[in-house]
Amino acid sequence: MHLPTLLSLTIPLTSLTTARYLDTPQVYNAGFTTADTHPCTDVHIIAARGTVEEYPGRQHRVIRAICNGLPNHLSCDYEDIKTRATWHEWCAGIEEGIEYGKKRITEYVERCPNSAIVLTGFSVGTEIIGDILGGGGGRFFENPGKHGGLGGNCKRPYIAGLSPVGKPAENIVAALLWGDVRHTANQTYNIGSGSHLDGMWPRDPQNLADLNRFSDVLGSFCHVDDPWCASGLIPARHVDYLRVNSEEAAQLVREKLALKMPWKLQMVRGVANV
Ligand SMILES: *[C@@H]1O[C@H](CO)[C@@H](O)[C@H](O)[C@H]1NC(C)=O
Repeated sequence: MHLPTLLSLTIPLTSLTTARYLDTPQVYNAGFTTADTHPCTDVHIIAARGTVEEYPGRQHRVIRAICNGLPNHLSCDYEDIKTRATWHEWCAGIEEGIEYGKKRITEYVERCPNSAIVLTGFSVGTEIIGDILGGGGGRFFENPGKHGGLGGNCKRPYIAGLSPVGKPAENIVAALLWGDVRHTANQTYNIGSGSHLDGMWPRDPQNLADLNRFSDVLGSFCHVDDPWCASGLIPARHVDYLRVNSEEAAQLVREKLALKMPWKLQMVRGVANV
């Protein structure tokens, strides 16, 4: 057998067993009420929605872009972090989301030790994803004038993030933050025109150091005019990331997957390296 022949193979070897993302995210997501009997996929996305969004909200675009942008032989699906996402229950919803998310990541990787996990969070969901990884806590919405009376003045106790060593951390290949409310200026993983700016509640040094143990998987999208991640003045710029940057994020996920689980992508050449 000649290597060039193998390389030119375009028929996916395992296409019959793949579970591609469907165009009806709500229906597909409903399947996850029995998540633990769902087949393990090569890439499993876990999404934390924004405030008052339906599941999965605007992030349906990036979920689709990630799954559809993978080589055909890789299966891909997603589940939501189930939590309250209301303004007046901001802190409670986040605490709930962190606990739920940590549990799901841990359980999924225990059951599916060869799967790559991609985390994605939009708006309030960034605080959930960021704190799952880096831990955190603090006071939010202390300034009613600035925040238009949203959120109340709420306080979250400090919690620790996931250990960056061993499982499940080693299965987390990418974590996307969209309009991070805890955006902190000048981090290596910041992407976009707001990269050099602090958001509403930037991470304190300890918190940041903890989060940055995951720098290699993070990608934090922030526009300079976004009031939440960059203290900007144009709310519309907070909600359009998923329309504008989803393809770019999917490319980033492919790159990070190639770095952390290169064997998954090697299969595309017909060299089943399992
Ligand atoms: C971030 O970097 C920019 C450009 O180098 C600099 O002007 C700014 O002071 C930095 N911000 C912080 C908070 O370090």
